Amino acid sequence: MSRIIYLNGELTASNAARIDVDDRGFLFGDGVYEAIRVIDGAFVEGPPHMERLALGMEGVELSADAASIVSELTDAAGRVLESNDLMSGDALVYMQVTRGAAPRTHQFPTGGVRPTTYVSATRFAPPSAMQERGASAITHPDLRWRRCDLKTVNLLPNVLAKQPPHAAGAAEALLVRDGVVTEGSHTNVFAVLRGVVRTHPCTNDILPGITRANVLRLARTEGLRVDERPILVAELMEADEVFITGTTTDVMPVTWIDGRPAGSGEPGPIARMLLEKYLTDISGSRSVVATIPV
Ligand SMILES: Cc1ncc(COP(=O)(O)O)c(C=O)c1O
Repeated sequence: MSRIIYLNGELTASNAARIDVDDRGFLFGDGVYEAIRVIDGAFVEGPPHMERLALGMEGVELSADAASIVSELTDAAGRVLESNDLMSGDALVYMQVTRGAAPRTHQFPTGGVRPTTYVSATRFAPPSAMQERGASAITHPDLRWRRCDLKTVNLLPNVLAKQPPHAAGAAEALLVRDGVVTEGSHTNVFAVLRGVVRTHPCTNDILPGITRANVLRLARTEGLRVDERPILVAELMEADEVFITGTTTDVMPVTWIDGRPAGSGEPGPIARMLLEKYLTDISGSRSVVATIPV
């Protein structure tokens, strides 16, 4: 179904939009992106998402003027939401910036090539039923590069990791590097071990999830002990609880890993409590997307 998207300054029908075949996003995956939850026309945690996008652009040296691209995309998000009648209820905004279109060479193009800017928005259905019953996951080797802290559109290892759980009817791949569970294919991973909430520290091996940061803050506020330290796969299998976090997942209890029950095999009390606090928190932490031009 066609929807209205934003591409390089214009609103256009998604099935009529044209991207140059020389676009470096298409040829090299040379770009960064963000996915942001929207409730009633307002971003959930807008500033940290936009800050991560700007840091990503700087991290891959994509633009000398990340601030103006962030502002362009923020305005565009408001226009796209409005155009698709998504100003009320739950929606998801996707934004992407690539290094633009130029004859194919590995090195950066010269001569002021304009980055390609793209925004789309879709209706979002919160995953409440799965949060209620818990999700299954499968471990998978973490085959990604050493800058997983940057949210680039180079997602092939994530795509390859997500397919086996998808084919098996499971929800997520838990990525394992050197015996450590780094994160999920599109989520951060938490375990509760002897009452302590553990998650991988923010290093180059994981994406610094906005939801992860929020959940850690909420856990601390609730007086829980928190430890940002790598989780060994062996520890994951012995944990009292396992859960994953992300923009489209919120806090999702994981009750089944590699065909075995995780924790008690039911959503645990800490994951349930953090989910409830998180949902209350995001309904009060929204920021205005943009002033819609009249
Ligand atoms: C690899 C990876 N880790 C973690 C996350 C969760 O990040 P956030 O909570 O900011 O959505 C994502 C989100 O897409 C992701 O792609």
